Amino acid sequence: MTSVDPGDFGILDGISEVIATTRSESGIPNAAPIGIIRSPISDQICVRLFSGSHTRQNVIETGEIVANIIHDPVMYVESTFGDLDLDVFEYPDNMDCPVLKRANAWLLFECEQSKGNLFELTPVRGMVRDRPLVCVNRGFSAVIESLVHATRYQLKRDPGYLDLIGHYDRIVQICGGTREKEAILKLKKIMGGLS
Ligand SMILES: Cc1cc2nc3c(=O)[nH]c(=O)nc-3n(C[C@H](O)[C@H](O)[C@H](O)COP(=O)(O)O)c2cc1C
Repeated sequence: MTSVDPGDFGILDGISEVIATTRSESGIPNAAPIGIIRSPISDQICVRLFSGSHTRQNVIETGEIVANIIHDPVMYVESTFGDLDLDVFEYPDNMDCPVLKRANAWLLFECEQSKGNLFELTPVRGMVRDRPLVCVNRGFSAVIESLVHATRYQLKRDPGYLDLIGHYDRIVQICGGTREKEAILKLKKIMGGLS
């Protein structure tokens, strides 16, 4: 029984989108958006990690993953499609697993593969640095939806995903702030390179 409550970090039941940080056996830090799945029935926490990602490989190698709670849409885009600069990471108290310097909160999990793509998570320790009052912004949600469709487009090349991204782009232009607009612009440039 652990005394760390993921709810204190905003990880409630359902799927919480975070930027997961991991490290390879040889010490290379990595960041990528991942959905943390918390069951309302069993209260178990897990992630589905699909083959081919650095995150999955690192978790298999080290058994650790950090959930970074962060509300910057640009960082979501950058961590989905590229490698973040090394100076965005830090290692509090000489932890092996990196965390994002700019995360509002982070939570370290031990991670064990249970079946196929499913990995069970056990919370170990974490830190809440600040609790910003962040209202629901449809522009932010639209960036996240666009990113999910962009990763699917990357795999399947179905032009339907491009239409969906166009739809979310319009929401970002109406509801988003500067960072959301910057994020969707970056994503559209990346998509241009994919087509
Ligand atoms: C909002 C969002 C949530 C995601 N959730 C997952 C997930 O739960 N599991 C997964 O394997 N990939 C997920 N992805 C896709 C990975 O972030 C993506 O494949 C990324 O390129 C992996 O990067 P890496 O190779 O550095 O680990 C998600 C992407 C986004 C945008």
